[in-house]
Order: sequence, then structure tokens, then C-alpha cells
Amino acid sequence: MQHAMLGRQRVSRIGLGTMSMSGTLLSGGALDDAESVRAIHRALDLGVTHIDTAESYGPFHSEEIVGRALEGRRDQAVIATKFGILSHGGDATAMFDSSPANIRTAVEGSLKRLRTDRIDLYYQHRVDRNTPIEETIGTVAELVAEGKVLHVGLSEASPDTIRRAHAVHPISALQTEYSLWTRDVEAKLLPLLRELGIGLVPYSPLGHGFLTGGIRAPEEIPEGDWRKTNPRFIGEAFRQNLRLVDEVRAIAAEVGVTPAQIALAWLVAQGGDIAPIPGSRRVARVEENTAADGVVLTAGQLHRLDSLTPATGARHDDFNESTIDR
Ligand SMILES: NC(=O)c1ccc[n+]([C@@H]2O[C@H](COP(=O)([O-])OP(=O)(O)OC[C@H]3O[C@@H](n4cnc5c(N)ncnc54)[C@H](OP(=O)(O)O)[C@@H]3O)[C@@H](O)[C@H]2O)c1
Repeated sequence: MQHAMLGRQRVSRIGLGTMSMSGTLLSGGALDDAESVRAIHRALDLGVTHIDTAESYGPFHSEEIVGRALEGRRDQAVIATKFGILSHGGDATAMFDSSPANIRTAVEGSLKRLRTDRIDLYYQHRVDRNTPIEETIGTVAELVAEGKVLHVGLSEASPDTIRRAHAVHPISALQTEYSLWTRDVEAKLLPLLRELGIGLVPYSPLGHGFLTGGIRAPEEIPEGDWRKTNPRFIGEAFRQNLRLVDEVRAIAAEVGVTPAQIALAWLVAQGGDIAPIPGSRRVARVEENTAADGVVLTAGQLHRLDSLTPATGARHDDFNESTIDR
């Protein structure tokens, strides 16, 4: 497995996202914790070191599974987790809290569930409009000084927030959506990250499964699957987005690999500072996604993929769009 650098943190260039192990944004049927643990073990066996979770996944369930799976294998993994969506202040309806007191409570819970004494990469999950970023990163910098956190990350932060945060403590990684169907990051964010020496962790690198080519009509998405509410999986947008995936499928057939592997191989070809975290809770899919590390695309194939028109439709529903710092 080749590696990527997120600031000074080295990670496998294909990681593993564990959100789908938790029931958050549930897709593809019921949870199976034993299979989730096996999927993490298989990833480690195949050289994946970068395991991504968050306290809000479940909530808590994804971190618990990761903690269970890494028992006895802690040193093989770079654990990335996140705070700041949940508020621990006692008001069950409160969200988006990156106040110092909330971070202090959150980190102790995450360490306990993850069965570890340190978090390798600790992200603010969403920017908190009520707490200045300097205060938030100042608190995380204290956790670094205490040895509870090794590296600091941001998720869905704007260029201005990134600069302000980086001035308080070096930021190692930004997490945002990046894939063949979501390329907004290329215009402003990626050049800024490169200027500051910050790595990029593309989330949803498979377009929530769409880019795997396995879903051919909106009707195939089962009831209860959250993608039924995602604008890109609905009606005319879905049909238009099939054009993109058909081209990915054509290149996959030419190379003799799967569409998911093409989507990941294209991403890692964008630079050694890019480390996608495809999400799966199934051993076979972890094997398929991880094998993208060995897929080499020709200059012509990369050019064809670069030239594809990104997806039609907003990447989130209105509420989730409104949580993004722009
Ligand atoms: N920072 C943030 O705000 C944020 C937001 C979203 C996600 N994330 C992180 O990014 C990770 C990945 O994102 P994501 O889960 O939204 O999207 P994704 O990686 O683009 O796609 C995952 C979906 O595709 C399915 N899948 C995975 N590999 C497959 C394959 N080879 N063939 C067919 N289907 C496949 C998975 O189902 P199964 O699990 O059933 O295999 C799951 O439904 C998450 O786990 C999480 O760690 C972060």
C-alpha cells in the first residue's frame, strides 16, 4: 500500500470510512457489527492504516466498533475522529458546539470508546458559528500539548477559517467531499491547502455508492435509505448523473477493474497529499476498494476522467448544505 502525507501525518493513501457501520445516513440494509469488525481487520491486513470515524456517527456506535476492532492492534492504525456536531451541554436539541468545554467533554468520550490514550487526527466536524475558530483550535492545541491528540483537522471549513485556524496551530488535514462527481474543491481550496502544507481527505469518494455503477434507477434504492432524500439521487438529476457513471464504467471495463476502483484511482492520482476514505462495512467491498491502490491509469484515461462533467444536483439536502462554512 502506498502512502499519502497529511501535513506531517503519514497514512495509507486508501483509508476506510466507518460511518456506514453506525446507522448514520443508513444505506444498504441492517447493521451487522461482527461484519463491521471483520471489515476493519481486513483493511488493516491489507495495509490500510487510516481509519476514519466521528463521535456523531451513531452517535457513538462507529467509535465503539473502531475501538473494539483495534483492541490489540492500536499501533497499526491512524485513528481520525471528530467533535463538534454533538453538544454535551444537556440540551438534546443543541448541535454544532465547538466551545472549549464541549471539546473537553467530547475528547474524553472518544478516547474511552476508542480504547486508546491518543487520537492521531482530531477534526472539528463542522464550523461553529458561535465560537471563534481561534478559541476552538486553541483548545485542541492544549490537547496536543497534553498528548491526547497528535494532529489537528478541519471539516467543511472555508478558506478564511482554514487560514485563521492554521495561524493558531498547524492544521494537518481538511476533510470535504471530493470525487469525480464533486470537484468544487479544485478551484480555491486545493491551492490553499497546498500553499499551507495541509493534506486533503476526500469524503464520499464513491459518491455515496453512485460511482460504483451498482444503482441504475432511483427505484432500486430501498425504503429507509437516506439517499432517497439526496438531490443527486432523485428524478431527472439521477438520470443525468448516469451519464457520468457510464463513462466511469466504460473506462473500468477497458482497464479490467471495477468502477469503484477507477473512482479511487483517479482521486489518488491527484497528488500525494490526497487520502480518500471510502466507506464500507463489508469485507468484500473493503477488499475491492483497497485494491484501487494498485490500479494505474494512463494519461489518456486520466484526461477522459478529468473532462467528465460533475454531478447534477446539490451534494446535500438544504439542512446539511446550510452547515457548510463558505
Ligand atoms: N466530514 C464529513 O462531514 C463526512 C461526511 C460524510 C462522510 N464522511 C466520511 O467519509 C466516509 C465515506 O463517505 P460515504 O460513506 O458518505 O460515501 P462513499 O465512500 O462515497 O460511499 C459509501 C457507500 O457506498 C457503498 N460502497 C462502498 N464501497 C462499495 C463498492 N465497492 N461497491 C458498491 N458499493 C460500495 C457503501 O455501502 P456499505 O457500507 O453497505 O458497503 C456506502 O453506502 C464515511 O464513512 C465517513 O467516515 C465524512
